[in-house]
Amino acid sequence: MITRKLGDVEVSAIGLGAMPLSIEGRPSRERALATVRAALDAGVTLIDTADSYHWHADEVGHNEELLAGLKGVLIATKGGRGRPGDGSWTVDASPEHLKRACEGSLRRLRVDVIDLYQLHKPDPVVPFEDSLGALAELHAEGKIRAIGLSNVDSAQIRRARELLGSTFVSVQNEFSPRVRTSEPELRLCAELGLAFLPWSPLGGISRSSLDRAASVPEGTEFHRMARDLGVSPQRVCLAWLLSLSPTVIPIPGASRPGSIRDSAAAWELGWGSGPDEKECPVWTGGSGGGGLRHPGEASGGNGDRQTR
Ligand SMILES: NC(=O)c1ccc[n+]([C@@H]2O[C@H](COP(=O)([O-])OP(=O)(O)OC[C@H]3O[C@@H](n4cnc5c(N)ncnc54)[C@H](OP(=O)(O)O)[C@@H]3O)[C@@H](O)[C@H]2O)c1
Repeated sequence: MITRKLGDVEVSAIGLGAMPLSIEGRPSRERALATVRAALDAGVTLIDTADSYHWHADEVGHNEELLAGLKGVLIATKGGRGRPGDGSWTVDASPEHLKRACEGSLRRLRVDVIDLYQLHKPDPVVPFEDSLGALAELHAEGKIRAIGLSNVDSAQIRRARELLGSTFVSVQNEFSPRVRTSEPELRLCAELGLAFLPWSPLGGISRSSLDRAASVPEGTEFHRMARDLGVSPQRVCLAWLLSLSPTVIPIPGASRPGSIRDSAAAWELGWGSGPDEKECPVWTGGSGGGGLRHPGEASGGNGDRQTR
């Protein structure tokens, strides 16, 4: 697996999004743990979680507890959202809540310091700077090693950079073949050297289309390329994401060992802008996609390192 930079740390270029292991429709505990083990065996060293990745109201931190005690992997968690148990998601990014939430995450993950703590979502009724201030205090107290932000726009990224400096290392926004509205943020992260973690990276590349990849019912470029290469469309999609910038680290979700095993191999397609890489052949035109035709354009070279 190749690695990419998350702040000062090298992590696998493909992470695991652990949300499907704990929310509605989650697998048995046994299958969830097998999925995590499969990720680690495939060389994954980054797992994304959140205190709000649970189903019922009384099981806050279900996902963090599942991941507690893992060695050799960076666990990135988040605070600032809640799940009252009716399927909805709430937001509370007040300094008081973030500090309390961080204590809960430390306890459940059974660590003294959290490697990456992410603001899950800016709160429309809390000044953004107040939320950032709480994260800065948690960092100053040694409770979190680095700060990430999720669901933010370019102005918020620039403001956070100003206020948090080098402690701010990553942005996690939705980005996939179907949803490309965060292209400006992806490019800004490339420019600033911040890791960009696309969430729900497989949007538009459904599992059912993988199951029927041979017949390619939807016929997107991803599906056609997958058929030509004899790999899954998910793998083509993740390789395309990797090719967009050396600061992109996709975090595909999985609830089956086979899914993350397959996703983790996406880097092997070797698409990117570095000297040993091939240009990504996937034409991603259509609504909002034209700007992504030339991968690596804004990135200024490739930062990948091969570990095994
Ligand atoms: N910050 C935020 O606001 C936010 C919001 C949403 C998600 N996230 C994060 O982003 C992560 C990923 O998003 P997501 O889980 O919503 O969606 P996703 O990664 O786009 O899709 C996950 C689904 O794709 C399937 N899949 C994954 N790899 C596959 C492969 N190689 N072949 C076939 N099927 C494959 C999985 O199937 P199986 O379940 O059958 O394995 C899973 O159901 C989440 O886990 C979470 O950590 C963050």
